[in-house]
Amino acid sequence: MRTARKALLEQATGRVVEVGAGTGLNLAHYPQAVQELVLVEPEPAMRRRLERRVRRSERRAEIVDASAERLPFPDHSVDTVVSTLVLCTVEHPDRALAEIARVLRPGGQLLFIEHVRAEAPGRARWQDRLVSPWQRFACGCRCNRATVELMRACGFKVLASKGTWRAMPPIVRPLMSGRAQLGGLEHD
Ligand SMILES: C[S@@+](CC[C@H](N)C(=O)[O-])C[C@H]1O[C@@H](n2cnc3c(N)ncnc32)[C@H](O)[C@@H]1O
Repeated sequence: MRTARKALLEQATGRVVEVGAGTGLNLAHYPQAVQELVLVEPEPAMRRRLERRVRRSERRAEIVDASAERLPFPDHSVDTVVSTLVLCTVEHPDRALAEIARVLRPGGQLLFIEHVRAEAPGRARWQDRLVSPWQRFACGCRCNRATVELMRACGFKVLASKGTWRAMPPIVRPLMSGRAQLGGLEHD
């Protein structure tokens, strides 16, 4: 996951907003091309750990208490939104994606790593069966969410590659990582 985070975040540029930043595991991977970094995290306990990590880091970042469904930023004000392992957990992923679309500048990008609904029907059935116990165990995470399809339904063009989260149980192993943009992928 560390390698995947680094490869993804190398593409971040300009004003960056990371939603659901958690304890800040992405912080070390942001490149110099990032001019401004805003870390959004709604959970107080996570935010406290995030604050500690930012204090110890050389990377300057602002921490904001907000949910992805309601981002406190003006329209078209962000170059890159980052979401790693977050859209599985947000209560209303469609609203979160609409907010991300609202704040992105024209040509802006959503960089993501998300675990997703399995393509294999047998694995997907297990995800459906275990969604409730897993949600209780894993702080609200839905193991069967078809996040990339949802991005497309919300108007994003998605360029993504498949991966496997080897350290995790089979129901959360299927990963997708990549870039999503509104109105077509640029630079590809
Ligand atoms: C599995 S953790 C991932 C943390 C971090 N992004 C990472 O890659 O390590 C999920 C994070 O999403 C946050 N979260 C949950 N609901 C959210 C929401 N509605 N909006 C933004 N973040 C949310 C949680 O507080 C938690 O920090």
